[in-house]
Amino acid sequence: MFSRIWFWLFGLDDSEQLKFQRDPDRLSELPDALLLEILSLLPTEDVVATMILSKRWRFLWMMVPRLVYNDSNKNIQSFSGFVDRSLTLHKAPILETLHFKLGTTCRDEDIPVWIRAADKKSSLRELSIEMDTFSRPSPITLPKSLYTECRMLVTLKLNNVILVDASSNLSFPSLKSLELVSVKYPGDEFVNRLLSNCHVLEDLYVVHGPNSNVTTFTVRVPSLVKLFIMYTRHDVDDGHGFVIYAPSLEKLDIIDHQGILCVIENNMPKLESAALDIDCFLPGMILGSITSVKLLSLCLSSSKDIYPPSCVFCSLETLIICTCDKAWVDVLLCMLRVSPNLEALEFDQCHKPQELPCWIEPGLVPECLLSSLENLEWEDYEGTEAEKEVAAFILRSANCLKEATIYSKSTDPNEKLEIIKELSLSPRGSRTYQLLFD
Ligand SMILES: *[C@@H]1O[C@H](CO)[C@@H](O)[C@H](O)[C@H]1NC(C)=O
Ligand SMILES: *[C@@H]1O[C@H](CO)[C@@H](O)[C@H](O)[C@H]1NC(C)=O
Ligand SMILES: *[C@@H]1O[C@H](CO)[C@@H](O)[C@H](O)[C@H]1NC(C)=O
Repeated sequence: MFSRIWFWLFGLDDSEQLKFQRDPDRLSELPDALLLEILSLLPTEDVVATMILSKRWRFLWMMVPRLVYNDSNKNIQSFSGFVDRSLTLHKAPILETLHFKLGTTCRDEDIPVWIRAADKKSSLRELSIEMDTFSRPSPITLPKSLYTECRMLVTLKLNNVILVDASSNLSFPSLKSLELVSVKYPGDEFVNRLLSNCHVLEDLYVVHGPNSNVTTFTVRVPSLVKLFIMYTRHDVDDGHGFVIYAPSLEKLDIIDHQGILCVIENNMPKLESAALDIDCFLPGMILGSITSVKLLSLCLSSSKDIYPPSCVFCSLETLIICTCDKAWVDVLLCMLRVSPNLEALEFDQCHKPQELPCWIEPGLVPECLLSSLENLEWEDYEGTEAEKEVAAFILRSANCLKEATIYSKSTDPNEKLEIIKELSLSPRGSRTYQLLFD
């Protein structure tokens, strides 16, 4: 009888009830700490349903440190009421994670109620609000209370939501990790203010959709260690760009095919790895600031002014060049010239190749080929003229080469054999590198 009342309260149906009545005894032999760990992995709807198992279970769910709500779960009659009640009853001293996966049923006005309930747990460390764009194309608007009541968050993840302006203090003093995917902002100034008020932020992950309402995305965060920025391709030419001031950065990823502006306001002496997949603006504005990288991955559509004169990548050990754009052979040569200590060179194809490039052999062999390059790896090798010439040039000139691995794109055994034959016949001189095929 008691359990029925609980079920009525939480709007769970009979089949859900049956699922948890199957074999409660064996589970109940486990210690609470372990059960809580198991419960943390389940959707909260299922977790709450365990309360009918026994007296002990009736309270156990209230101690779960991680709550995950999904409004597509058909077993819940009133999703909003369910969230409300379970958050109010939840008693754990620590609520580590609160995760909302929202689709059709959630309304804008529900969110403030939940945020207030969650805020009563001053321990909330991670908040994630994710809208499913398929079941609900229009994003949800988050309340201003997000900025005031969730100030102690360590991790915040937002997906397909609208942020509103707040004239009050915008500050997340403990925030270390921030994920903003398809977020609509109240404007450029807001973004600047939001990010520069996160004084301990280390990890920023941003994906811009077509409606971000931001022209210049400014990231001025001295504590930042990892930065990922991606603009999804769209038809509206919004002339966007970004400004970055992040002197502590160790990892940088930028994917942007329509941007017109990129300013990096400082050098990044701690930068270990960078990946740039960009089209429009001058890559030199970025490459000139990241010369300390050890690992660099480039997919560029032009080698024009790729870096400022006198630029040298002394620490660069591994260079990955994407062979999808016609410019890749020029980008390769430019980079080989200024990477005197390069040890590994990789070719990759991250997009569908467009036009075929034309390779012009350099008069002077770059220094790294003569003295440091030990590994060559080629993914999606097709055997085009330029590819053959570049491969032959490297195999012929790389004095210290130890291993070259070629992964042929072709599935035709005859074509593969032809490629193997051609490459094996490249003159080696006295070099003893291993040539591997796949
Ligand atoms: C939410 O639940 C539905 C139905 O159970 C499921 O299909 C969907 O993948 C879930 N959403 C997320 C984001 O996990
Ligand atoms: C900002 O926060 C400080 C301290 O938390 C408070 O004294 C001040 O009134 C706040 N300012 C605004 C505009 O809310
Ligand atoms: C878009 O940004 C501008 C400022 O750049 C702001 O005035 C406007 O209200 C924003 N629009 C929306 C819908 O938030």
